[in-house]
Amino acid sequence: MNLISHKTKSLNGKINCPGDKSISQRILIIGSLLNCDMQLDGFLNAEDPISTMEALNEIGASISINQDYVFLNKRDVPFKNPKNDLNLGNSGTGSRLLLGLISGLGIRCNLTGDESLSKRPMNRVINPLKKIGSVIKSNDGKLPISTIGSNIINNFEYKMPIASAQVKSSLLLAALASKKQIRIIEPKTTRDHTERMIEFFGGDISYGDSLNKGTISLNDYKISPKNLYTIPGDFSSAAFIIVASVISKNSEVLIKNVGLNKTRNGLLKILLLMGADIKIKNERLLSNEEVADILVKSSDLKGIDVPEDIIPNIIDEIPILSIAASFAKGETRITNAAELRVKESDRLMGISEGLNKLKVLHKIFEDGIFIKGTSEEIYCDSPIDSYNDHRIAMSFLISGIRSKNSVSVLNCKNIETSFPNFRHIMNSLGMKIDEKN
Ligand code: S3P
Repeated sequence: MNLISHKTKSLNGKINCPGDKSISQRILIIGSLLNCDMQLDGFLNAEDPISTMEALNEIGASISINQDYVFLNKRDVPFKNPKNDLNLGNSGTGSRLLLGLISGLGIRCNLTGDESLSKRPMNRVINPLKKIGSVIKSNDGKLPISTIGSNIINNFEYKMPIASAQVKSSLLLAALASKKQIRIIEPKTTRDHTERMIEFFGGDISYGDSLNKGTISLNDYKISPKNLYTIPGDFSSAAFIIVASVISKNSEVLIKNVGLNKTRNGLLKILLLMGADIKIKNERLLSNEEVADILVKSSDLKGIDVPEDIIPNIIDEIPILSIAASFAKGETRITNAAELRVKESDRLMGISEGLNKLKVLHKIFEDGIFIKGTSEEIYCDSPIDSYNDHRIAMSFLISGIRSKNSVSVLNCKNIETSFPNFRHIMNSLGMKIDEKN
């Protein structure tokens, strides 16, 4: 599916932020382990959480969905070896977190995925999971992956070579499911939704002091059921609406119920440093996660050097940050972001190819990109390839706001993996995004 996004005068209105993808997937997994009757509100009904849900049902969970309401049902039978392959579609989070859960449960199964997921590196989870006691076979570190069984050891300690919340969560889930203690040391702070969720259900997690920075310990695996869990809005989806509102003229948009966990909201800090007019209102705690409403107005941005330490915190937002940088005064420099090469696509390449089409001056490096912003309207005379990557597709559709005429983006179907209402929400605020043959 190809989409075209037309020049936009202004964006105005109030919308509800769609549910968080990372948290929707985690609550399905941890909720299934809890084995209780539980209702999930605010669930993200998109392809990635749905493939995680289907995989869990294959191994014996009992999860049903009715629009945005999901019900986890208590079952009398334990988890089981599935009859079919577990197909995680496009979802890196689903595949890596489930590999941890399955290792912890000692389940035998085959994990598969779509073309993009089948190219993504899995040794980052396979290697530590083998060390903790799982028997795993893979296609040279890629999907398909088979789990043969496991004997998970207690008090495993793992120093992560890369900053990855998926690796951290996979190991925490392996320990939780096998009722073992674990200690993980991360090189830089990554999203902490798994830890917060385990704590929300009464599990005992502790964090290293200043001498043991980055250490996360699961001390007690006991978690207790609750009958309701409410999922906060997804900051990564809100990021598209925030940048769209900032770069369009005469705009004022209120985004309600946005997750503002500080391991996720780095883009907010970056945009404020760039001069964006953003106000946080009605801050509160929901399911042990910070949420708030965000009021965004049109702003004149200036380029900045993005601090390297914040990169894991903004990793999914770098494509849309690149669009903000394209309309900022001066140069924005993003470095130490080589992880972008192994996301749903090689995102540094995808951003650079798209910026070439927009004729935005930039320089791409192995681990980053420098972008020189323009105050002119952009002119795009040939379609931009999204490389089947939802975040690349949505980012370049947003750039259409500041175009002389329009921006066309190819292969946008994958927007369904994370933000199925993207087009509807953006058009309701004043954008004009249409299908294009
Ligand atoms: C995610 C972690 C990040 C992020 C991904 C979702 C998660 O990946 O890019 O979209 O839900 O844990 P890494 O852990 O590989 O950095």
